Amino acid sequence: MTKMQLFDSLPLLRATLAAYKLHGKTIGLVPTMGNLHAGHLALVATARAQCDVVITTIFVNPLQFGPNEDLARYPRSFAADIKNLEQSACDVLYAPTTTEIYPHGTVVHTKISVPELSALHCGYTRPGHFDGVCTVVAKLFNIIQPDKAFFGYKDYQQFHLISTMVSDLQIPLQVYGIATMRESSGLALSSRNVYLSTTDRNNAAALFATLQESALQIMGGEHNFRQIEARASGTLNKVGLKTDYVHICNRSTLHLASIGDTDLIILAAVYAGTTRLIDNIFVQITI
Ligand code: PAF
Repeated sequence: MTKMQLFDSLPLLRATLAAYKLHGKTIGLVPTMGNLHAGHLALVATARAQCDVVITTIFVNPLQFGPNEDLARYPRSFAADIKNLEQSACDVLYAPTTTEIYPHGTVVHTKISVPELSALHCGYTRPGHFDGVCTVVAKLFNIIQPDKAFFGYKDYQQFHLISTMVSDLQIPLQVYGIATMRESSGLALSSRNVYLSTTDRNNAAALFATLQESALQIMGGEHNFRQIEARASGTLNKVGLKTDYVHICNRSTLHLASIGDTDLIILAAVYAGTTRLIDNIFVQITI
């Protein structure tokens, strides 16, 4: 088992990373909010395979939670996370305090925003969320200066926004997206799954099944995308979930897809009880 170095303070972390860089080591970053599951560990494994040094961050970022969201009760399992990261051969864990990341408080003067993309889909229901994500991820990129950074495709809009931010700000790193890991029911792994009651969990399995059904309808030649979205929303509501949105999108713009688009993604968000779940599926139309 690797001896993982744990840092909660910036100067020591910076000195350690500078030494790695001096020796020409490539650095892979896996940013997380902790309560790690197999999906996070798959990101760490991918970083491990591609980089000399793997650094995971655990920071529950207050800036990306709305006033009525679950910041206070967000699941934290630090001791188990450390064990899992050690077993995954992670080299460095950076778990800063809120004061270290936001020394002047969380009403920050400088925010990173990818405005148009941030307003779509999840951004409509969670205003400010993606500004919080982009701001903290940009900070982590500045602090760590990794060569590669790894994110899950489950949060596809987040992945897309971060890739756009990196390209727009000309940050010299490569962003990688990793396939979603699922329970045998199809439910995408998420730190928030711990909130689900047995009934919610059973209902939640319908989310991916419905996305698969919609994908099959598209691949079967049905191209009235708005009608497919409405049907999927109806199915989800019928099984006891509450649909926030189902959107069939062009995968490279994340705008609603129209006839002629071939590389698609169906993005969806639902509530299972009070828990908000998101998922997606890629769909390729061959002409
Ligand atoms: O996906 C997450 O866990 C968070 O949004 C991230 C990227 C770590 C930023 O806080």
